[in-house]
Order: sequence, then C-alpha cells, then structure tokens
Amino acid sequence: MSQKLKWGILSTGRIARTFARDLRESRTGELIAIGSRTQEAAEQFGEEFGVKYRYPTYTGVLENPEVEVVYICPINPLHAEWAIEAAEAKKHILLEKPFTVNVREAEQVIEAARRNDVFLMEAFMYRCHPQTKRLVELIREGAIGQVRIIQATFSFYAELPVDSRILEARLGGGGILDVGCYCVSMCRLVAGAAMGRDFAEPIDLHAVGRLREDGGVDDYTAGIAKFPGDIVAQFSCGVGVEQDNTVRIYGTEGHIFLQEPWVPGPQGQPACIHLRKRGEKKGQKIVVTDGRRLYTIEADLVAENIADRQAPPPAMTWDDTLGNMRMLDRWRNAIGLIYNFE
Ligand SMILES: NC(=O)c1ccc[n+]([C@@H]2O[C@H](COP(=O)([O-])OP(=O)(O)OC[C@H]3O[C@@H](n4cnc5c(N)ncnc54)[C@H](OP(=O)(O)O)[C@@H]3O)[C@@H](O)[C@H]2O)c1
Repeated sequence: MSQKLKWGILSTGRIARTFARDLRESRTGELIAIGSRTQEAAEQFGEEFGVKYRYPTYTGVLENPEVEVVYICPINPLHAEWAIEAAEAKKHILLEKPFTVNVREAEQVIEAARRNDVFLMEAFMYRCHPQTKRLVELIREGAIGQVRIIQATFSFYAELPVDSRILEARLGGGGILDVGCYCVSMCRLVAGAAMGRDFAEPIDLHAVGRLREDGGVDDYTAGIAKFPGDIVAQFSCGVGVEQDNTVRIYGTEGHIFLQEPWVPGPQGQPACIHLRKRGEKKGQKIVVTDGRRLYTIEADLVAENIADRQAPPPAMTWDDTLGNMRMLDRWRNAIGLIYNFE
C-alpha cells in the first residue's frame, strides 16, 4: 500500500492507548486524529502518540475530511450512537466489542453502515489472529473428530470503584458485555466450524448468575447452550472472580486446549494450540506465529478489506455480530440483567 490509511480514534481510555501503540507499527495505517470529551485528555493522548489533530469532542474527528477510518472505543452504551454518527459522516469503522448493548442497536448500526456504504467490523482482535484461523481449520479438518463439548471462560476479579465502567450499570458494566461476549463468540465460531459454516446459533440456552448489590450488573455467571449437531457449550464470565480464561473443545477423536484464546501473541510472539488425539499420552503443540502485535494485525485486516466493507471470517462479519448480540441478549435475559437505559 503506497499511502497509509488515516485513522481517528474516539475516546482516550485504556484500549484506545493499546490500539494507538500497535497502530504505530502498522504498515497500512497511521493515526492522525483523536477525539475526547475533554481537550486536556485529547492533548495528552496526542502528545503521547504524536497525533496531529486533537479534539475536545468525538464529532471533531468525524468532521475532519482527512480521516478515513475511525476506531470507536468509548464505554459500551456509546458504541451504537457514535458508530451511526461515523457511518453518516462516511467514515469506515472498527467498533469495539461488545458491538452494542443489545441486538436492536446492532441492527441499527449495521443498517447505517449499509446505507452509507462504509466498512464496519466488531473489534474482536482474537478473531483476527492466525491462531483462531488455525483453530477453525483444525475443527473443519476433523482433527478431534465430531465436536461434542465446548468450554470457554473469561473472567477477572475487578478491584475497582463501583462507578467504574466495569461495575456501573449506567455505563453498561458487568461481565457478560465485558468478557462474556468473547466466550459466546468462540462457542458460536467452533460450533459453526464443526458444521462447515462460519458460525452457528444456539437452539437452546440456559444460564444462572449473581447480580451485584452495588451496581446491579452481573458479577459472575455461567451458561449452557445446545447447538445444532448436538454440540453442547459451557461458558462463564465475570468481574467478581478469576478463572483460567481458556477454551477447551472435546470431540470424539480428541481435544483441543487454548491457553491464550483471547489475547494470543499480544507482542507478536508465537501462540500455541494444544491438540491431543484420543489415546495419546502426550499431545502436540501447534505453534502459530505472525510476528506483528495483536492490534497491528487487526488494523491491517481493516485496511486490507476496506473495499469489501467487511473482513472475511473468522473476523467478525455483520451476520456473525448480529448472532453474537442475540446470544448475549438471551444470556442477559436468562439471569435477569436489563439495563435501565435499554
Ligand atoms: N478488544 C479489547 O481488547 C478490549 C479491551 C478492553 C476494552 N475494550 C472495550 O473498549 C471500550 C473501552 O474500554 P476501556 O478499557 O478502554 O475503558 P476506559 O479505560 O474506562 O475508557 C473508556 C473511555 O470512554 C470515554 N467515555 C465516554 N463517556 C464516558 C463516561 N460517561 N464515563 C467514562 N468514560 C467515558 C472516555 O474517554 P474520553 O474521556 O476521552 O472521551 C474513557 O476514557 C469498552 O467498550 C470495552 O468493552 C476492548
């Protein structure tokens, strides 16, 4: 690519910094604009990452004619509103997970992208990493026979003030939207691969969980779902307990273990899939190397597919995102978690 794609970022939080750091190493993109709720935060961010345009609003970035693509990463309840604004401003979009708060919002965002003919992708970075692509190949090749059970966990213990975005209902907090979305997306991906498809939707879902007394968000929760092909998935997440944050897939001929399913090779180091065939004492390690940092891979994937408006699976396509949001809605419903702004 002769000329680099010009990026803007909406918000200056933790993941905005991680993305900006990795974008610096991208061969396809460069960061030229940052928007924040305050000029001070925009200036600070701009100094840190050498950003040319610094705005005290998100609108500033969208009104800059040089900006071609925006990375939208404020708190969850703002995703839909700003993605729609960005689409109307004819900017291509990389939108943080969870795509939106619910599937109704997700439909509106996708409709806006379609109407304005812009690129749009949910920023599940693990879906952009070659470890995930290799996993899908292994499942499709029948490396573990027929898939029977999928287990996915992602949770942590949040030592945070109750008004943090993770714990505050008003800010779209709780485990399901923060990290449960990864588990659900993995189960749908693997169940789909088992049937030779890009993703699958559950035919049944049950869940239990604990809602926090302070913020009202989900503290920890576990769900089970049945997919076509008699595949059973177990998934759990939380902001009130640490788990091992792994993925295990059991099939008729063996099993696969992912130690780092969600953040594979963050600095470009190799990632590893553990495969053990039935009857084998010692399994094999399948090493997957890219060399680029995790969010550099994601930014490059956007650039490479911008003309097609969607990136190919296992990156998140629009239909995949809609299915994921639908399953998250079902999980939240099952444990009685409805945000008062919905
Ligand atoms: N893919 C990943 O690896 C990954 C990792 C972490 C988080 N995320 C996602 O990225 C988003 C941001 O997460 P984060 O960890 O970066 O959060 P964070 O550090 O708390 O930053 C959130 C940012 O949102 C903006 N914001 C707008 N309205 C706000 C309000 N009323 N209260 C607080 N902040 C507000 C603020 O930026 P300004 O003040 O500059 O406007 C703030 O810095 C979330 O949707 C999260 O799910 C993704």
